Amino acid sequence: MYSIKMRANNNSKHISGAETMCQFCEIESTVKRYLKKAFYHENGDIDFINFKIEKITQPIQTLSSLVIYQKENENIRSLAYKNNIKDIAIEKALKYIKSETIYRGAIILCAESGERLDTSEYRGIRVTNFSFKNQNNSSILNERVQDALAIATCINSHESVKGELCVSDDLNYTIGYFASNLLGYNRIFNIKNKNTRQGGRVIFVDRSIDIEEYIEFLENKPKLVVY
Ligand code: COA
Repeated sequence: MYSIKMRANNNSKHISGAETMCQFCEIESTVKRYLKKAFYHENGDIDFINFKIEKITQPIQTLSSLVIYQKENENIRSLAYKNNIKDIAIEKALKYIKSETIYRGAIILCAESGERLDTSEYRGIRVTNFSFKNQNNSSILNERVQDALAIATCINSHESVKGELCVSDDLNYTIGYFASNLLGYNRIFNIKNKNTRQGGRVIFVDRSIDIEEYIEFLENKPKLVVY
């Protein structure tokens, strides 16, 4: 298996990214698909594309995808309460998401106190080295939802994780989600206004988590999410 990663910039600003793991014979078609994504993205024109193709040498861990739910008026706070995530942690998370700083990855907060537990400052922690397999060929899953579902499944697979809140930084994409192992992947409509790159991802954890080991899993372990 090979890992394929694409990221595209404009003026050194991140515009879009994508990644998967595939067989040798699928490399060419995947690169073509990612070229299209890079050049025709709603976030704007690009002046730089980076492709990274690497042979996978570590064993791949298989994870079962979270289940998707969608309700008209889903509420972040009530989902969070059901996972024992305290108000103060939600407030902090929303501050990170609405701030002017665009973090390049997720922020990890203590679900009880809201204290930030990762030390990545403006970078954030990125879930990477993963792939999504739509085993049932379900047509409700477009590429964007597949990516988000894969990332959410990896994040929430650790027993010390209580949940995750995500708002896309894509300009006009206003559907966010709250995910947890207990409640699945819950889509939240109109989570932000259109025409803004404001967004972010926050992971709520139990303070007892071994954070180094968790970050190593998110960033480096090859993960296959099966739907
Ligand atoms: N958002 C913003 N900036 C990003 C980024 C992202 N998702 N991914 C990479 N960058 C930028 C950062 O400046 C990064 O430097 P940093 O590590 O100091 O933050 C730099 O590119 C190099 O990152 P690197 O990890 O070496 O990139 P890569 O080529 O190995 O992987 C991605 C690129 C986009 C595939 C990967 O980082 C990633 O984010 N995968 C998650 C999947 C994804 O983004 N799907 C699309 C959903 S919108």
